[in-house]
Amino acid sequence: MSSRTPTSPAASSAHPTPSLATRLRTDAVGVFRGEDAGREVTLTGWVHRRRDLGGLLFVDLRDRSGLLQVSFGPDWTEAGGLESAHGLGAEDVIRITGELRLRPEEARNPELPTGDVELQARTLTLLNSAETPAIPVYRGPGDELPAEELRLRYRHLDLRRAELQRNLLLRHRLILATRNYFHGLGFLEVETPMLTKRTPEGARDYLVPSRVHPGEFYALPQSPQIYKQILMTAGFDRYIQIARCFRDEDLRADRQPEFTQIDLEASFVGPDDILEWVEGLMAEMAEIAGIEAAPPFHRLSWAEAMDRYGSDRPDLRWELEIRDWTRVLGTADSAILRGAVEGGGRIRGLRLPGGASLSRRQVEEIEAAAKAAGAPGLLWAKRTADGGSGPLARWLEESHWTGLEAAEGDLFLVAAGADRITSPALSATREAAIRLLELPKVREHAWLWVLDFPLFEEEDGEMWANHHPFVLPHPDDADRLQDDPLSVRGIAYDLVYNGSELGSGSLRIHDPAVQRQVLRILGLDDGEIDRKFGFLLEALASGAPPHGGIALGMDRIVKDFLAAPSLRDVIAFPKTTAARALFEGAPSPVESDELMELHLERREKSAKGNNTSSPEPESPA
Ligand code: AMO
Repeated sequence: MSSRTPTSPAASSAHPTPSLATRLRTDAVGVFRGEDAGREVTLTGWVHRRRDLGGLLFVDLRDRSGLLQVSFGPDWTEAGGLESAHGLGAEDVIRITGELRLRPEEARNPELPTGDVELQARTLTLLNSAETPAIPVYRGPGDELPAEELRLRYRHLDLRRAELQRNLLLRHRLILATRNYFHGLGFLEVETPMLTKRTPEGARDYLVPSRVHPGEFYALPQSPQIYKQILMTAGFDRYIQIARCFRDEDLRADRQPEFTQIDLEASFVGPDDILEWVEGLMAEMAEIAGIEAAPPFHRLSWAEAMDRYGSDRPDLRWELEIRDWTRVLGTADSAILRGAVEGGGRIRGLRLPGGASLSRRQVEEIEAAAKAAGAPGLLWAKRTADGGSGPLARWLEESHWTGLEAAEGDLFLVAAGADRITSPALSATREAAIRLLELPKVREHAWLWVLDFPLFEEEDGEMWANHHPFVLPHPDDADRLQDDPLSVRGIAYDLVYNGSELGSGSLRIHDPAVQRQVLRILGLDDGEIDRKFGFLLEALASGAPPHGGIALGMDRIVKDFLAAPSLRDVIAFPKTTAARALFEGAPSPVESDELMELHLERREKSAKGNNTSSPEPESPA
């Protein structure tokens, strides 16, 4: 009898699983192979699927190690046991004793690790019956997954799925490897508080009201940033923590309000120490996950990354690069192009061999992506046998085509203006063009360090820290800190894998005077600085060693290593994009006497302007 039950990846993993024997069972179900035939075993698990063939009954028994076919054969029938087995339903929890038998050759299932054997049942105990599951755990070939909202609502059932079990197993193994790796390098794991003072990482804080101090609030940590720096001043010169972080920010597929960082910090280090440690860790993790990571990773300065790819986290699986055509196209008879150059901007774009085959609608789709990224528009031209076509082509003379190194069939996508606007637009253009032209990848696994980010950025006349306010100014730029802060780079580095930011770190300011200066540049007055960061400045003034570190997004690592579509696939109990937990129903209202105890009162927000409570759509995506 062959079974088409899907294989459990967890069971096929090369990871050595310890015996899962207990007083109720002799083994886990997914471990058996042909050589186990003849063994008498007692197994427990869930009824994954039941197939009834009249006098014969088959049950696929499931636990976290995989699946095993159980047959209720003739012996069982003769003993009158078939009736009780007939009563079994999906997801019932059972215990079975019996003998493992080799399946007849034609009934073997090569897709199932246990597919050479089956358990011939002798006794059956129903440990607990299950109501009809709200969403099926068993999926036949071609069966679609239930809608994600349903799966999040019934997370306890969804988590029984082999894919999610495999994802959480990989997550466990990567966390374990991380701890061992850093332990081997002399790092100490130190837990930092969850009830903290605000740490600026650029998002809103989740606040926790204090019952004993009316009107005062703790903040849940956006990261352990300040604590890890204080640990350095305290002499714990290599710190690591698998740290939970909380950020009240707009959510996307690669962001959750509550997430986990591999957070580290070390004293007396240069950036290369941190980069090499992280590369070593990534190589170990990648091996566990079965992907490629061969240090040293490619490095680009932030300025180069923005120039060549328009992004600080370019996906280098594709080689397509932005070109600077300011000189070539600046002479074209176009008010748009000339205006951009006269305004101090550049004319940059992408050359796509064969891109002329894209339809007008597809080119418009690329343009829409550029506009969504903030560009007023995208100019394009196709090089054809008889000249060119498209809005840009009408300004191009033969000399321009030559300057563009154009060949017949090329598509040119061009943005003109300040880099601040054109870089994100060209990055979006690049991504859309790669997708629509189905450009071949040059590598499957693209690892990259982006270095030397600007320390500050300006938005609406306000100065913001690019990473956070503790990044060490680059020594080559430090003399411009006061007069031209926007030109100052930080010793900061981001780790990028396949276009996803896996981690971010820097060397830190260890001189309290420089720290105060940076906070002032960010618009804080001395009173505020002392109130908000006095404790850090005090620690820095107490003999702080030079130090630096990084935080890697654990959830993102697992997601990207599995090429999973969402962080929700690698977090046991994730939130929706509306920051709701659909399974347990959080957040939820509290009684007014509980609020009173916390010295809080619920007030409706006024209708004008400051009302941010409009319900967000409940989509998990
Ligand atoms: P940063 O804010 O860049 O740096 O965070 C570091 C890494 O954490 C991950 N990450 C997230 N993952 C899931 N959901 C989120 N909402 C989310 N936000 C961030 C990303 C990111 O690269 N204290 C600094 C680090 C340092 O300087 O040492 C920090 O937190 O993978």
